[in-house]
Amino acid sequence: MSGEIRKRKAEHLELAGSGPVEPPSGPGWDDVELVHEALPEVAADEVELGVELLGRRLQLPLVIAGMTGGHPGAAELNAALGRAAERHGCAVGVGSQRAALLDPSLEPTYAALREAAPGAFLIANIGAAQLIPQGDRPALGRAEVERLIAMVDADALAVHLNFLEEAVQPEGDRAVRGCAEAIAALADGLPVPLIVKETGAGMHEGTARRLAGLGADALDVGGAGGTSFALVERLRAERQGDARGVRLGSLLGDWGIPTAAAVASCSRAGLPVIATGGVRSGLDAAKALALGATAVGVARPLLQAAQSEADGPSRWVDDFALELRTVLMLTGCRRATDLAERPRVLGGRVGRWIEALERAPLGAAP
Ligand SMILES: Cc1cc2nc3c(=O)[nH]c(=O)nc-3n(C[C@H](O)[C@H](O)[C@H](O)COP(=O)(O)O)c2cc1C
Repeated sequence: MSGEIRKRKAEHLELAGSGPVEPPSGPGWDDVELVHEALPEVAADEVELGVELLGRRLQLPLVIAGMTGGHPGAAELNAALGRAAERHGCAVGVGSQRAALLDPSLEPTYAALREAAPGAFLIANIGAAQLIPQGDRPALGRAEVERLIAMVDADALAVHLNFLEEAVQPEGDRAVRGCAEAIAALADGLPVPLIVKETGAGMHEGTARRLAGLGADALDVGGAGGTSFALVERLRAERQGDARGVRLGSLLGDWGIPTAAAVASCSRAGLPVIATGGVRSGLDAAKALALGATAVGVARPLLQAAQSEADGPSRWVDDFALELRTVLMLTGCRRATDLAERPRVLGGRVGRWIEALERAPLGAAP
């Protein structure tokens, strides 16, 4: 089993780095415009980019989204991501740690991130699907989850919701019932804050409120329009000659709530929101903050930056910070947190999504 996971994780990095895995309709940032301030009275280098997230001060409203661990190449990538987080004072996550529970010799591939980022806000990671029994595989217990937290000396735990991916993945976990109850049980008495994160299909206000009631401390909307795991798994299914996965992955490659709409909707639920899914610049980030996000998350561009050079992620974050700083100046904001109070112009597909979700907030599944 751990050999299978190891191979899958390596394929994810390869395919997400270079394959056609971003759907055509996008995360929706083009439908969100910010209003220019002709007389800003604040220079770009005076802008305060820092934000509070779960009781910690970040120097930048950025989470380097959890991607990997669990195979030999992951240690180097996690170290590069960790160095960027340490240098820029942003948060950073590891990928799903399930592989290290099955094979403890893989722990260093995750711990490499903490070693490179001793001062960063670091987020451990496990799938909600692992919190319930899957066939004859039992649910993870609290002691195992706490071991994952200790493995990387984490400041928070992310539980990821990836039911679209599991549905397309040839060997995916198909059971879903009981996850809500398992999240509530885990949240109760967890030693670190709990972030519940989607991974590319988005979340709406109804689910966000439900997760708040279950004990989540923050949400990552993981909206549609960035890396699509339906498309990643479709590519894997193609390699395996799995016609079912190819068909489902093609059909659902563009499925989900666009990130911009998911942020606007979930921000109404009262928890801090991380906007992940297709954030590709400081301008996208500014739009996400204007829609109510506390911070943004970025995965694929940082993977590609790390694949091109060891210092790639740090350079990417340098550019990101400059872009965000410049947009803040151009909107007359002294602080990143001021953006939430600034007007924004909504149109097109995202405007319609936001209007529809606001008019009839969806209840979540019982
Ligand atoms: C190669 C790769 C592996 C990922 N693995 C995980 C994971 O193990 N756990 C998780 O919560 N999210 C995982 N993600 C999802 C990201 O955290 C993020 O939600 C998603 O990629 C959307 O962001 P993006 O459009 O900036 O790539 C992974 C993403 C990539 C690209």
